[in-house]
Amino acid sequence: MNRVKISEKSSLAEIRERFDSDVDRFSRLETGQTATIDAKLAMEVTCKVAASATPEISQILDIGCGAGNYSLQLMEETEGPISCHLSDLSQPMLDRARERVSALGRGPVQMFAGDFRTLDFPEGSYDVILAAAVLHHLRDSSDWENAFQKLYRLLRPGGGIWIVDLVHHSIPTVQNLMWERYGEYLESLGGPEYRQKVFAYIEKEDSPRPLLWQLDLLKKVGFQNVEVLHKNSCFAAFGGIRS
Ligand SMILES: C[S@@+](CC[C@H](N)C(=O)[O-])C[C@H]1O[C@@H](n2cnc3c(N)ncnc32)[C@H](O)[C@@H]1O
Repeated sequence: MNRVKISEKSSLAEIRERFDSDVDRFSRLETGQTATIDAKLAMEVTCKVAASATPEISQILDIGCGAGNYSLQLMEETEGPISCHLSDLSQPMLDRARERVSALGRGPVQMFAGDFRTLDFPEGSYDVILAAAVLHHLRDSSDWENAFQKLYRLLRPGGGIWIVDLVHHSIPTVQNLMWERYGEYLESLGGPEYRQKVFAYIEKEDSPRPLLWQLDLLKKVGFQNVEVLHKNSCFAAFGGIRS
């Protein structure tokens, strides 16, 4: 992994185009997105923690929301009215997410189309920010740091950010082992062609960072309390609470 240089990775337009035509794959709440190891488990644990770590949730932001699985799962773990802000590059994803979340009748649902890094969201207002399988599209270290700083500012004190994502490992032998295990998992789902297909788009599109690096960055931008919720092979669920 990571043989493609950062400067040669997919552009935002290329990423958007790929997801525009992949909405159904991200619309299955009962399994989550199966190319992720432990997809459903990670989604359930993360949303349970998000719901219990911040009492009185009334406003949430789901960045890279896809078809809305994480917002839906969080709704299952909470009660009462919730205003849901959905952010994604892909309009077809947003349309599906809004349709599914609105159908629950829990409160207003607003779409934010475009790159979350440059969109204006209300600062200091969110009780929970969900970021599932999206931050691995961030590129160099300053891009990551600016994005984490922005997400910190968007939370109200006591609000939590909860991330589920593909992660890299800084020790090459560990990375190779975890990558091989992920390849075996993909083969068990769809044979060698599926493994090759997923590995090819990850190589072209994604630039994940190590879990511990991201936890350090969360602390650096201000999160005093950070926590790992789950890790299996090269997927992790983690996050932090704004003091
Ligand atoms: C792998 S999907 C995950 C969808 C959903 N979070 C889930 O777990 O089911 C990643 C989503 O992030 C969106 N995305 C990627 N980069 C983004 C960015 N910079 N700003 C907003 N959305 C982005 C893509 O369009 C895509 O719908």
